[in-house]
Amino acid sequence: MAADARIEQVLAEYDARAAAEQPLHAAGWSADDRRDQLLLRIGPETGRLVNILVRGAGARRIVELGTSYGYSTVWLAAAARETGGRVISIDLARRKQDYARSMLERAGLAEHVDWRTGDALEILKELAGPLDFVLIDLWKELYIPCFELLAPKLASGAVLVADNMLRPEFSRADADAYRDRVRREPGMESVTLDVGSGICVSRSARPAGRAPARSGSARSASARSASRTR
Ligand SMILES: C[S@@+](CC[C@H](N)C(=O)[O-])C[C@H]1O[C@@H](n2cnc3c(N)ncnc32)[C@H](O)[C@@H]1O
Repeated sequence: MAADARIEQVLAEYDARAAAEQPLHAAGWSADDRRDQLLLRIGPETGRLVNILVRGAGARRIVELGTSYGYSTVWLAAAARETGGRVISIDLARRKQDYARSMLERAGLAEHVDWRTGDALEILKELAGPLDFVLIDLWKELYIPCFELLAPKLASGAVLVADNMLRPEFSRADADAYRDRVRREPGMESVTLDVGSGICVSRSARPAGRAPARSGSARSASARSASRTR
């Protein structure tokens, strides 16, 4: 990412807030209702990586599931500025998105973000594809339902990044189920990286027009039938 003093200032403020919240994580706030008071951010390593991936893919239609206070949005919007794209950032909490909006304005990145407030599952149903890049970072039990809605809308070559694959431990079962589901998607390749809280990076190479796999079925009946004849 090109050096930009306004972005660096805003990222430094997030770093300071994250450091101040560290004892609250240790006290278990991220595992209960108090989690909405925390940034719950992807962290600097993952932030930089998603920024690089968006720019490397030349992604223009970018979706973020889980704005929280806008930390990851800054990294995505900085990349969108370079690709000529836009970030559609989705969160349930208007209060958190208001904070995020003010940070993006101060970073000089507000014009690269469309804010959508509401349930991601409802918003995704209406969202038009094709999507070039998606960051999945909302509550972990929603990863698979969101993936089912996203899969048919992915451009060929689209990149998905899902956070919290390795940490925290309490969401590990949901993370494992997500990775298992993505692994079964035709044309999708994935790798899990021990960056930040652990991320799953996936690339969709599904030819346009090919239907995605249904939830819970490893492969379509026709694919199973075809492989039996090989
Ligand atoms: C881990 S935080 C996102 C952190 C953010 N990506 C960052 O790095 O700064 C998860 C967010 O998902 C949001 N969320 C949870 N369930 C949601 C839903 N059904 N629809 C939209 N947002 C949801 C929460 O309000 C919370 O702000």
